[in-house]
Amino acid sequence: MTVSATLAASETIAARRAAGEEVLALAFGEAGIPVHPLLGQRLARAAAETSYGPVAGIGSAREAAAGYWTRRGLTTDRDRVLLGPGSKPLLFAVLHATGGDVVVPRPAWVSYAAQATLLGRDPIRVPVPEGEGGVPDADGLEAAVHAARDEGRDPRVVVCTLPDNPTGRLASEGSVKALCEAARELDLVIVADEIYRDLVFEDGPFPSPAAWAPERTVTTTALSKNYALGGWRIGAARFPDSDLGERLRETVRGTASEVWSSTPMPMQHAAAYAWSDPPELADRITAARRLHGTVAHGVAAVLAEAGCAVEAPQGGFYVWPDFAPLRGALEERWSVRTGADLARVLLDEFGVGVLPGSAFGTDQADLHLRVAVPGLYGSSDSERLAALVSTDPLQMPWIADALASLRSKLAALTATR
Ligand SMILES: Cc1ncc(COP(=O)(O)O)c(C=O)c1O
Repeated sequence: MTVSATLAASETIAARRAAGEEVLALAFGEAGIPVHPLLGQRLARAAAETSYGPVAGIGSAREAAAGYWTRRGLTTDRDRVLLGPGSKPLLFAVLHATGGDVVVPRPAWVSYAAQATLLGRDPIRVPVPEGEGGVPDADGLEAAVHAARDEGRDPRVVVCTLPDNPTGRLASEGSVKALCEAARELDLVIVADEIYRDLVFEDGPFPSPAAWAPERTVTTTALSKNYALGGWRIGAARFPDSDLGERLRETVRGTASEVWSSTPMPMQHAAAYAWSDPPELADRITAARRLHGTVAHGVAAVLAEAGCAVEAPQGGFYVWPDFAPLRGALEERWSVRTGADLARVLLDEFGVGVLPGSAFGTDQADLHLRVAVPGLYGSSDSERLAALVSTDPLQMPWIADALASLRSKLAALTATR
């Protein structure tokens, strides 16, 4: 097992910066927004809470997470909720609890496949529907599961991400419903990773798999993305109200007790506050959504202008351009044949750090890149806060300069000799 592609890229970029190189860091999935002072206060106030606490999480934090989901249309009892130090270990424990092989979309966030590998299983990859992201195509899912079962494999769980990392797309209701029907037909558990749920740019109904497959869907969330608190490490899982849900929750609780014991108590108090959706924090989420959406669209426009094929981002803070239309020029000028070659040229020749699509499970020859836009928000908390409260972040001088620099680097990258 090697270090996760996103964490490794961020460490490489940090080392280059420390060596005095200028790098436009667009590789790491960090939301890039300073902590809200009220959340900081809650955390500090709970600093004396030094005991381990209950394995599943304290009642007030589970109650708040249950309220968070209930207000979003998924009625939840706090006994169905389990907290963990980030949603990543919870996801791993859920995949462990389901047993069997894991189906993941192609492309998908780096860690699902890595976690399946850690559990001793080869992930089964199923492409997403054309133009979408985050859910496997339902027909492809059925075909892949039947083929795997015919080979003697034992697929038991399918993972989806709404909205998606890396594509920045939100799966359509039709695709989610079809996935739910297929999963029921095939008797698969659905893991719905909704960590970016509050960062969908346009208002509208949210297609939660738990709405259509309540008996078999485990949903996860965290404070890492919407409140930009990845380093605080707290997440939550919502288990189905069914025998299956009860079994999974108990197995995950057992894993938790042997691996992380409990979730840090001060974090739980801060999360109990955040997950109660207090009005004084609502503005923060609204502003974050506006910032991510505006900059993601700005970056997508720059990439489209450079000749990439790029779908409009719909949520989170990623853009997923395809450099395939530029393949000829890239191969001739830079000998680029793979996505990894392209990412390397961008870093070595232009000081732009991004991740190749292959880190997310696409073919080596695929020329998609994942561009994480928060790297443009500023180099200090005061710049990032100014960007956050701005009604037109693209006009902030440092963001405008960074976009102009990206535009000229892409023009130089794609120019033929
Ligand atoms: C899709 C997705 N799920 C889960 C995580 C992990 O988040 P956490 O900080 O809750 O462990 C990330 C973080 O990059 C992510 O992008």
